[in-house]
Amino acid sequence: MRDNGPVTQREFTFPANETLVSTTDLKGRILYCNSAFISVSGYSRDELMGQPHNMIRHSDMPAEAFADMWDTIASGTPWSGLVKNRRKNGDHYWVNANVTPLLDRHGQPVAYMSVRTVPGRPRSMAPRRSMPACAAKAPSARFASATAS
Ligand SMILES: Cc1cc2nc3c(=O)[nH]c(=O)nc-3n(C[C@H](O)[C@H](O)[C@H](O)COP(=O)(O)O)c2cc1C
Repeated sequence: MRDNGPVTQREFTFPANETLVSTTDLKGRILYCNSAFISVSGYSRDELMGQPHNMIRHSDMPAEAFADMWDTIASGTPWSGLVKNRRKNGDHYWVNANVTPLLDRHGQPVAYMSVRTVPGRPRSMAPRRSMPACAAKAPSARFASATAS
């Protein structure tokens, strides 16, 4: 388990209309993150890009949660769960994380994407279909590579 340093147990909340997005390669290295993710993390874009995603891990998160997440997404299935993340300054923020594998045409994961929202976001501000319902029903996103015919 990676130790990212001391934590303050001070909670940071982000606006309910913001969605924190990141994508990774198959090893969990950050390939992309949106400006809301960057701002909430407290890191700069340069500090985040190419780094392992556990750089925002909070020490209160049980290893079992991530083991379950990785088992699920590596098998081609989306995973949803409540995650406590550490900010650069040691504060934390909670998210509803929806992590999905992006699959090639053979059904093999080629990358992963996480879309995070404020836990308990009011229904009026949530997507029309709640994410867990979508995740349970929808097949994983297909990722068409440039070479796929
Ligand atoms: C797309 C994607 C998003 C992830 N998002 C987070 C996250 O927000 N917070 C986090 O702690 N780990 C996240 N992880 C999991 C980390 O890669 C890692 O497994 C976790 O932080 C546990 O780190 P450890 O192996 O050092 O214990 C994500 C992984 C993937 C593939």
